[in-house]
Amino acid sequence: MDTAFKTALAALREHRAKTAPMDMRAAFASDPGRFARFSLSLDDLTLDFSRAAVDQKAVDLLLKLSEAAGLEAARDKMFSGSHINTTEDRAVLHTALRALSGGSIENDGYDVMPEVREVLEAMDAFADGVRRGTIRGATGKAFTDVVNIGIGGSDLGPVMVTRALSPYRDGPRLHYVSNVDGAHIADTLAGLDPETTLFIIASKTFTTIETMTNARTAQKWIAAKLGQSATGDHFAAVSTALDKVADFGIDEKRVFGFWDWVGGRYSLWSAIGLPIMIAIGADDFRRLLAGAEAMDQHFKSAPLRENLPAMLGLIGYWHRVVCDYPARAIIPYDQRLERLPAYLQQLDMESNGKGVQLDGSPVITPTGPLVWGEPGTNGQHAFFQLLHQGTDIIPVEFMLAAEGHEAGLGHHHDLIVANCLAQAEALMKGRTLEEAETQLLEKGVPEAEAKRLAPHRVFTGNRPSLTLLYRKLDPFALGRLIALYEHRVFVEAQLFGINAFDQWGVELGKELATELLPVVEGKASADSRDAATGGMVKRIMELRGS
Ligand code: F6P
Repeated sequence: MDTAFKTALAALREHRAKTAPMDMRAAFASDPGRFARFSLSLDDLTLDFSRAAVDQKAVDLLLKLSEAAGLEAARDKMFSGSHINTTEDRAVLHTALRALSGGSIENDGYDVMPEVREVLEAMDAFADGVRRGTIRGATGKAFTDVVNIGIGGSDLGPVMVTRALSPYRDGPRLHYVSNVDGAHIADTLAGLDPETTLFIIASKTFTTIETMTNARTAQKWIAAKLGQSATGDHFAAVSTALDKVADFGIDEKRVFGFWDWVGGRYSLWSAIGLPIMIAIGADDFRRLLAGAEAMDQHFKSAPLRENLPAMLGLIGYWHRVVCDYPARAIIPYDQRLERLPAYLQQLDMESNGKGVQLDGSPVITPTGPLVWGEPGTNGQHAFFQLLHQGTDIIPVEFMLAAEGHEAGLGHHHDLIVANCLAQAEALMKGRTLEEAETQLLEKGVPEAEAKRLAPHRVFTGNRPSLTLLYRKLDPFALGRLIALYEHRVFVEAQLFGINAFDQWGVELGKELATELLPVVEGKASADSRDAATGGMVKRIMELRGS
């Protein structure tokens, strides 16, 4: 990071030091236009950041910081296919997968769009065949269940989207197996009929140990029930490693490719989205892509102050780096987004959980926050206590639909809306000691008792939150929401000065697990390991009686 950036960051920190903690109640009281000034809309999607701990000067300084970081130029480089993933020497072009209304997009001098369209059409045909029952299992029965075997980016996106769009599912039932723990595949297969089950093996590299182990178990399950020759009819694959898929024995007509310029956690738009397409159909899958494309266009063209991903990223940076808040909570008041927090954990933490800048030198600020969450209202009855009265401040990001899909259950939806708005208000306003005491006295509590209890009922307030509001969680709205978060992660990465598109931090554990497997299997000694590993291996063997 250069001097201009450091100067802009110092100005931000100075402003924060002078104004913290920001009195949000007073900010709202003195500025009736605060919501209008600190919210942005794109069609029916609104980002309300009026309850973030920012004032006008903070926003201006954040925009200066983004200028100093060269944010707009970096964004344009990503869209134009530059090799911005410098540690893997790759372009980052997941946006091409949904650029269906545009022209050519080049990677290394060739237009990727014809291949993107070709794979999408092959997916359409396969998904359609499975949905209509023209593509059948070995015994001639139509598929009623599809099991996607994959992990990380080859699992979380499709799981999250399938769940989110369940009102749109009119195809076979979808199941997802990711964990190498045998419990996952055993529990999934327990309810299924091999004659009517199709497996999709989804792995960018087709080497991931969890996925390959589960895939072999699934292959054996089909072979044991229907005979070895049946397996071809019950498997399809999605990968960039077509040679490895062939070695595994899946017919090339059932293999859907993608490319090294699609990162795993950015891949649900590619053939990795095949299970989504089988569940909801090609038209709704294209609406999902269209929603993401609408956000791409907006991110590319809107001035930064009116740009939703840019402002979401800048506010995120303000909270993480300038205010030093360690985490962000993702709380959808939309039950069908229940897997969104897990999906965003990978998107955000695998992208921005880094400690070195692009040139390999240590970062100069904290980087990505801890991301976690659960849907409301469930979270209210579990961990919201800490959000309101705990000693750490954790900015909350709420998601809310104006309308639910359950037209006949309108009262439920009004309750979810009221609860979401109430939580944002409570975090911001809090309750003073005086208010707590008055409330108790008004309830008839004796004065001494009111004084004793009141401190426990104080809420400090001034706890920041953001809210994303949309009309309804349909495929277009979901695509737009996911792309918003993808670009937000990109924006923050530019300000951290890191590469958001590699994930070397997951390698060491994988290497050590490979070394430890023979030890756990009793084929190698634990003598060369550290004392803790050695001690645990010994204890495991004792517990197993071996
Ligand atoms: O956990 C590391 C990782 O490489 C993720 O980035 C990726 O999404 C996941 O493993 C699965 O990889 P693959 O699709 O190659 O099986």
